[in-house]
Amino acid sequence: MEKKHKLLVLTGGGDCPGLNAVIRGITKRAKREKEWDVYGAIEAFNGVLNEPTEIVKLTRKRTAGIHVRGGTILNTTNKGNPLNYPTPQPDGTIKGTDRTDELIRKIKALGFDAVINIGGDGSQRISDALYKKGLNIIGVPKTIDNDLSATDMTFGFQTAVQIATDSFDKLVTTAESHHRVMIMEVMGRDAGWIALHTAIAGGAEVCLIPEIPYDIDKVVRRINLRYRNGRGFVNVVISEGAKPKGGHVTSSEGEKGSEHVRLGGVAYQLSHQLKVAGCKAEIRETVLGHVQRGGSPTAFDRVLATLFGVYAFELVLQGNFGKMVAYRNNTITSVTLAEAAKATSFVDSKSQIVSFARGLGISFGD
Ligand code: F6P
Repeated sequence: MEKKHKLLVLTGGGDCPGLNAVIRGITKRAKREKEWDVYGAIEAFNGVLNEPTEIVKLTRKRTAGIHVRGGTILNTTNKGNPLNYPTPQPDGTIKGTDRTDELIRKIKALGFDAVINIGGDGSQRISDALYKKGLNIIGVPKTIDNDLSATDMTFGFQTAVQIATDSFDKLVTTAESHHRVMIMEVMGRDAGWIALHTAIAGGAEVCLIPEIPYDIDKVVRRINLRYRNGRGFVNVVISEGAKPKGGHVTSSEGEKGSEHVRLGGVAYQLSHQLKVAGCKAEIRETVLGHVQRGGSPTAFDRVLATLFGVYAFELVLQGNFGKMVAYRNNTITSVTLAEAAKATSFVDSKSQIVSFARGLGISFGD
């Protein structure tokens, strides 16, 4: 019998609804090619680097029906970058070391012919570096933040916006009953996509995003407009990366070994600033947090993620490595990993969507 080809699949970085749909898409497509077996590394590249290795065969039984489930059956981590691997030192500190040569050696020694790495911007940079060192690798973009410029959309984003919009709708009714200002903080890191889409979908009066630093007096003015005769209510969406003009974003140090600072808490900061700036209305704050990343993906995200999975395997079959799957102009296509790793997609303050949002009366506080 001819020797079978082996494909390794992994999910890295923060989780996101739709990861399991990609895994299933890859596995179902690969099942149609008898000479391929698909495996999954547990907790991104840690499953390969750890001893003993943690690698499972992605059988039909393991992957059947998983497209409706949030999270990732392979688990994930944002503390396993092989280019800068968090390595404990004798003095208790953590130092980043480059373990890419060891990683590639191990993947090849385990008999893998190709790798599909599903992840965000950081994962695409890792994949690009591994490709340049000779690994047959394909990237698949994921993130609720929708901040990868090489693809028009990442899966997980629509689900996060839906979750945020459902929560926003609930805050509207209670804001109205109590004539309150409700501030809802959403995720997105340095990109305001989730906040902007939620503000339009929900009908917010104010939307504060990292790309447009806000002037607190202008936010108060917009709020006061709605409070004539002591009545009215206001719903604000603020992105976790938003900041006042000349100010800083609220963040705290990440866990040991994490490459990112932790964002979160701007809703409370804004609430305080509003009071100091003379806002008389009662204010309440909601920080949505990780619910935006949990649960079942929307139908759109399931479709996008599944098609990404199928296409990623097609690229493997073609031997077309060093590519990231992308969604562009309503088509599933690919770009080089080098291009994928290059630029972040931010909300352009001059774009059509921002100008239309302004046309709806949404204030960006500028
Ligand atoms: O990048 C996705 C994201 O959910 C961001 O929106 C958020 O800032 C971050 O991850 C949270 O990361 P963690 O899961 O490490 O708290």
